[in-house]
Amino acid sequence: MNLILLGPPGAGKGTQSAALVERYGIPQISTGDMLRVAVKEGSPMGVKAKSFMDAGALVPDDVVVGIVRERLEKEDCRNGFILDGFPRTVTQADALHGTLKEMGKDLDAVISLEVEVDALVERLTGRRICKVCGRGYHLAFDPPSVEGRCDQCGGELYQRDDDREETIRKRLAVYSEQTSPLIDYYRQRGLLISIDGMRDIAVVQSDIVAALRTS
Ligand code: AP5
Ligand code: MG
Ligand code: ZN
Repeated sequence: MNLILLGPPGAGKGTQSAALVERYGIPQISTGDMLRVAVKEGSPMGVKAKSFMDAGALVPDDVVVGIVRERLEKEDCRNGFILDGFPRTVTQADALHGTLKEMGKDLDAVISLEVEVDALVERLTGRRICKVCGRGYHLAFDPPSVEGRCDQCGGELYQRDDDREETIRKRLAVYSEQTSPLIDYYRQRGLLISIDGMRDIAVVQSDIVAALRTS
């Protein structure tokens, strides 16, 4: 199954992808996660990406298109993949289309997670992430059993640099200007599945699975 998870910052793309990975046994491809690894490693790409990410802006299309293309060629994508946070512009979506065509593949569905702005801000300000395994938590909505520690691996939890209110507002504006046009883009191609992302994490997951079954 070849999927895209589309939605604004904080919509639950990462949370839902992690559960879909377990369910379908296909990898999650998160450009945000890949870019954060590159920043941490201080690779040339990471150095270039950092200033855009810190400002809540998008990293240039050619950079992300390149890393996604490389990732899709890996063996573990042969039975499918879940793109989380890519594409984010029409240019990226067109490039993805070309890449998949070259590979003899096609998209099966684009899941659009719909969440109100106030809820997004609340989710992002309360988000914490495990330094070791990357699992996401929320201080109120999905708290760890032990404060500051990951349930899964005991790792320390941290807050993302771009999860400060001012940067969050910028990211939300960038989403509505540059990424939200993709909702119509994929609707016109008959691939869009809209999901109410305001409900509980487990309910959103079962709604996605049910919608994929009938799509
Ligand atoms: P990226 O890492 O992709 O960030 P984002 O799109 O802003 O999305 P988030 O990861 O913040 O949100 P999410 O939807 O994954 O939510 P989550 O599941 O964690 O990108 C970061 C940056 O990298 C970009 O700003 C850009 O600079 C760059 N970048 C990345 N991709 C790029 C691209 N393609 N092109 C150019 N630049 C790119 O959930 C959030 C919180 O809410 C968690 O705490 C979670 O526990 C909680 N939560 C989740 N679901 C629910 C629910 N149903 N109810 C209550 N709480 C919930
Ligand atoms: Mg994410
Ligand atoms: Zn962990």
